[in-house]
Amino acid sequence: MRRPIIAANWKLNMLRQEAHDFVVAFLSELNNPTQDASLDIVIAPPFTALDATRQALTASNVALAGQNLSFESSGAFTGEISAEMLRDAGCRYCIVGHSERRSLFAETNTDVARKVRALLEADLQPIVCVGETLDERESGRDQAVLAAQLDGSLEGLEPEDTRNLILAYEPVWAIGTGRTATPEQAQATHAFIRNHLRAGPLGDQAKTLRIQYGGSVKPDNIRTLMAQPDIDGALVGGASLRPDSFARIVRFDQPENTPS
Ligand code: 13P
Repeated sequence: MRRPIIAANWKLNMLRQEAHDFVVAFLSELNNPTQDASLDIVIAPPFTALDATRQALTASNVALAGQNLSFESSGAFTGEISAEMLRDAGCRYCIVGHSERRSLFAETNTDVARKVRALLEADLQPIVCVGETLDERESGRDQAVLAAQLDGSLEGLEPEDTRNLILAYEPVWAIGTGRTATPEQAQATHAFIRNHLRAGPLGDQAKTLRIQYGGSVKPDNIRTLMAQPDIDGALVGGASLRPDSFARIVRFDQPENTPS
C-alpha cells in the first residue's frame, strides 16, 4: 500500500508574512492536520520563506520541502544552497528536476542525478520531476523522452533508495495551462514509469515507489486523479497558493454539484 503524498510547490511566490498567514489559514481549514496520518502533506516555499513556514507549521504533521538545491556540499559556489542547509532549515523533501529548471535554467539529467545523490546522502527525500512537452507527446516520442529522463535522472540509484524517493510526472503541456492530463492519460503514463523503473534500476521495489501527478491539479479534478491505481499523490502549483483550495485538494474535495 502506497501512502498518498500531496505537495504544494509555491515556485517564485510568497513573502514570509504571506507564508505564515497561509499556514495559519490552511491548518485551520483542515481542523486538525494530525488527525489523518494516512496522508503526507508537504509545502515547498521559496528559500527565504522556509523558516517562517517551518515556524508556522510547528505542531502540525505537514512537512517542509526545498524547491531546488546544489549538488555541491560546501565551498565557493556563490548563491547555492546545499542539501545539509535544507535539512538544517527543517526540510524533509526537495523537488528536483522540475521542468521549469530544466527548460529555463538548463538543468540536465546529469545535474538532477547528482542532486538526487546529494539529497539521499543528507537523509532528505528527493521529489524527482519528469515530463514531456506537447510536441514530444503529439509526435509519439513521449515514452522515449520519459525513459531518457528517468534513466539519466536516477542514474546510480539502488533498489533500497526507493524508500526515500518520490517521483512526479508533470507533463509540460499541463503545467500552469489549465489543461490537465485526463485521469486515463496520467494513469497510462504512471504505469509506464513504474514498469520502466521495475525493469531497470529499482526492480520489484518500483511497486512501492510513490508517483505524484502534477499539472493543473485543482480541487475539482483531484479525486478522479487519485482514484487511478498508479497515481499516488499530486504536486500542485497555482492551486496551492490559496489555503482554501489547497485544503480542498488534500481532502480530495469536489464541488457539491460535480458527479464523482
Ligand atoms: P500548476 O499546478 O500551476 O499547473 O503547476 C504544476 C507544477 O509545476 C507543480 O510543480
